[in-house]
Amino acid sequence: MNKSEAKDRIDKLKASINQYRYDYHVLNKSTIPDAALDSLKHELSQLESQFPDLITSDSPTQRVAGQPLKQFKKVAHQKRMMSLNDVFSSEELGDWTVRISKLVSHANWDYLVEPKLDGLAVSLIYQEGQMVLGATRGDGRVGEDVTQNLRTIEAVPLSLYRLDSRLRGNDIARGRFEVRGEVVISRKNFAKINAEQTKKGLPVYANPRNLAAGSIRQLDPKLAASRHLDFVAYQVMADFDILTHAEEHQLLRNLGFKSLDVGECRDVREIRDFLDDLQQKREHLPYQTDGAVISVNQKSYWEPLGFVGKAPRYAVAYKFAAEEVTTKIIDIQVQVGRTGALTPVAIMEPVVVAGTTVSRATLHNQDEIARKDVRIGDTVILRKAGDVIPEVVQVLTELRTGKEKKFVMPEKCPLCESKVVRPEGEAVARCANKNCFGQEKEQLVHFVSRAAFDVDGAGEAVIDQLLDNDLIGDAADLFFLKVGDVEALDRFAQKSADNLITAIAARKTIALNRFLYSLGIRHVGEQTAFALAQFLSNKVSGEITPTDLWHHLQKIDLETWQEIDDVGVVVGQSIFDYASSSIGQNLMQKFTKAGIKITIPSPSTHTLPLTGKTFVFTGEMASLTREEAESKVRELGGKASSSVSAKTDYVVVGENPGSKADKARELHVKIIYEKEAKNLLNMV
Ligand code: IVH
Repeated sequence: MNKSEAKDRIDKLKASINQYRYDYHVLNKSTIPDAALDSLKHELSQLESQFPDLITSDSPTQRVAGQPLKQFKKVAHQKRMMSLNDVFSSEELGDWTVRISKLVSHANWDYLVEPKLDGLAVSLIYQEGQMVLGATRGDGRVGEDVTQNLRTIEAVPLSLYRLDSRLRGNDIARGRFEVRGEVVISRKNFAKINAEQTKKGLPVYANPRNLAAGSIRQLDPKLAASRHLDFVAYQVMADFDILTHAEEHQLLRNLGFKSLDVGECRDVREIRDFLDDLQQKREHLPYQTDGAVISVNQKSYWEPLGFVGKAPRYAVAYKFAAEEVTTKIIDIQVQVGRTGALTPVAIMEPVVVAGTTVSRATLHNQDEIARKDVRIGDTVILRKAGDVIPEVVQVLTELRTGKEKKFVMPEKCPLCESKVVRPEGEAVARCANKNCFGQEKEQLVHFVSRAAFDVDGAGEAVIDQLLDNDLIGDAADLFFLKVGDVEALDRFAQKSADNLITAIAARKTIALNRFLYSLGIRHVGEQTAFALAQFLSNKVSGEITPTDLWHHLQKIDLETWQEIDDVGVVVGQSIFDYASSSIGQNLMQKFTKAGIKITIPSPSTHTLPLTGKTFVFTGEMASLTREEAESKVRELGGKASSSVSAKTDYVVVGENPGSKADKARELHVKIIYEKEAKNLLNMV
């Protein structure tokens, strides 16, 4: 092949490879098998090495060219790269439209809404259709020359002429002009790169934006190429008689750039609809977006509207609630799951992420903590995206003070103090006591039940979910939960999560008898709890914290417990044991921290109308439940018992009574019916 034949062939190859590149990287259409494209590229590179003087800078073989740089050159931007003012709500957005409409007479425009990509802003300079310079935004006036790295991005056209002749932009693209846009990395690519990092035992990258920015702001173009970055254009800085920003996007597309779907909206209502839609689609977009840019579509208004500081008035950035925030780890606690697995959980300073407050995140296991090197006291990046449970992504080690504490898995189970085992080769440590974990769930279900803390909407299924996701380990944890902690669980949405957290908070003040009952101390049923509360009311009064209560319990010896009416030897021992346990003590401290307040009944029970009277209920009553009736009896100083004896004062008989009614007749105990009972209980 002679040189002129080679030149023809090279030109054809370049044009066709460029077309396939455009189809694939800009239009997302695969129009040729990978291997076939490789073979075209191979032929081109063979020819070029045979005729080196035929190599041009826009050849596909020249994307990754040159050695790593020593440092970047500074570049002054022709026109300042501005920033945008942020709005965080639909109200603020409305205010902006009203504000700017007042600034010009006869304002008559519409708005263009486009996704705001979360990447690195760059500027590309084209001279006679060739990409000659690429720079970062820098401080807006001066950036860094990152041409070598930007050339490795396949979505950046190196030459605007080699595209399909159908593209109208060709004529316009003469002279020198600038295209601005965002360098991004697709979620898919990001996941792939992180998977490779993990495989190599290296730390993962925190988010696509940092990885994209880091890849451009380093000196080796080979490394930049290996990241498979992407470029999306949003602005062209030239006087091309373009009337609207929407046309600007169209022009960019015609020139061979990738640009995202935009929406033309007539008013705030339409903008809001577009934003709602975008918010829905957001997770499924190929790139990370942090909001939307809303601008006055008609460019003739841009200059008259002017600037405030560094930002133009004609556009604003509407920011979605951040999905990644930083917070501090206050503690790492161990939770015992339903299968006995001990899971370390990060307790964090509550932060708002993705619109709701989050306070805890599972750290999975010891290996995971070691891999991320998470320590108590660390500042971390916390992510909560879409339906995904909040996770600690990365530690900001540069913020360490030296006071951070490493986490050590305890040797004893925090619930039952049995040995903790971790079988060879397994990531999970477990409590060796099979009876430990099953009971934990029952204990929690009991804790939220009607006669105890009575938390609306917290049934067995919810407790299961909270346990399975390591959101609670003990009852006190319930009171630390935030909406964002539970919102990502199955069958929860923000509203139901809100309801649950409100229901829990509504129970922070509780009567002493309910509190004692809720602890699930062996043999302490409702009636005993009531008797204990009566007994304690002679020693304490008013409203106290669980820690205060604990101090009082400490002062009572075994015999005293056992002598309380309705208590006895076995029950007294059980209470005494509980009051001596460190688990009980820790729980009380945690309850106190959670803000639990206990109200003590007045001690003057002897003056109450039903003092000394014992009731037994049997059968169903029409207008009240047995629990309600029994609790009323206690409130009035009486006792509610489940079995009839000669000491019983009243047996209340409802519909379909059981054998207790017969027993009452046998023992000549007074039988009354619903109406009479309600009279006695002051319930009419
Ligand atoms: S500005 C007239 N559009 O947000 C409208 N900026 O600009 C001018 N950004 O760091 C368009 N996506 O890099 C515009 N679609 C988009 C954008 C966008 C992301 C970034 C940009 C800069 C900041 C403010």
